This record gives sequence, C-alpha cells and structure tokens, in this order.
Amino acid sequence: MKEAMKNVVLTGFMGSGKTSTGRLLAGRMNRPFIDTDQKIEQETGMTISEIFRVYGEAYFRQKERDLINKVSRYTNTVIATGGGTVMNLDSMNRLKANGVIISLTAALPVILERTGRRTHRPVLECPDKCALVTRLFRERAELYRKADYSVDTSVYSPQEVVEQIINFL
Ligand code: S3P
Repeated sequence: MKEAMKNVVLTGFMGSGKTSTGRLLAGRMNRPFIDTDQKIEQETGMTISEIFRVYGEAYFRQKERDLINKVSRYTNTVIATGGGTVMNLDSMNRLKANGVIISLTAALPVILERTGRRTHRPVLECPDKCALVTRLFRERAELYRKADYSVDTSVYSPQEVVEQIINFL
C-alpha cells in the first residue's frame, strides 16, 4: 500500500489524548476520523461503562476486535483506538498492515491526574484507582513502545502534537 493511503492509528494509555488528538489530526489532514470506543457506543447504543457492567469486559474486547478487523481495512483514515487495543497482537498486526502506528505517551503523574478526574472508564472503577493505573501503565508500556512513532502529550500542546505527527508521516 502506498504510504499516503495508509491509516494513521493512534494508540496510548487511557488519558494520553487519543480522541482529541485524532479529531484535530483528521481535521488538519482532511481525512475521516473514527474513534473505536465511540463507534462501539454508537453501534450498541450503550456507553462503554454500561457494556462492561451488563455484558462484561470479554464481550467488550470481542466487539473491539471485530471493529478493528473492519476498520483496519479502511484507507486514509485517522483511527483512535481504545487504550487496551495494544493487548491484542492480532488487532495490532491488522492495524499495522494498513497503517502507521502512532503512540501518544504522557508521564505517569499526568496520566494519574487526567484519569483521576474522569469517571467514564470502567477498567478504573475500583477502590484503589491510583495503584491500578500505575500497574497497568507499567505492564503496557512496552506494548505502546512498539509503535512507529511516539509523541509525549504531557510536553507538547495538542497543535504541536498534531504537527509532530504530520512531520513524521
Ligand atoms: C480501556 C480504555 C478505554 C476503553 C475501555 C478499556 C483500556 O479507552 O476502550 O474502557 O483497557 O485501557 P480510552 O483509552 O480511550 O480511555
């Protein structure tokens, strides 16, 4: 596939800025934008939290895999994935075959601060959210590092992040 036709796939931990960066980037590049969590919410008519509560995480992960299978065949699209997509090797290989993988990173204190003020993340609904975020952050770090390119969203403004990605592409 020609580089210019490839999807731009955003990965990164919860709170790394995938959705807001993706929307900005898609606008700047004049490409369609898909956020996989939002798409799953639209398709099911439920929030991600409701899906976790009613059907469980395994059901959500299956929906996520099915959607990734579909959108990884698209071209020219900016795709913001959920923070847990990196745990599925097959999904990542599919996305990579048709796209450039960009990892958005942020320092752990920044992630703790960002995820602390948001309540819509079912994975984090537990008594010791801080310990869980820290553990998942460390466990997943090496998976996010496999990306083609990384940008630290705790250092750069959203516009600068977008410009860095465009310069890399
Ligand atoms: C998850 C991240 C969420 C969402 C779901 C699970 C995870 O997406 O897909 O709650 O396991 O990291 P965001 O990274 O957009 O919050």
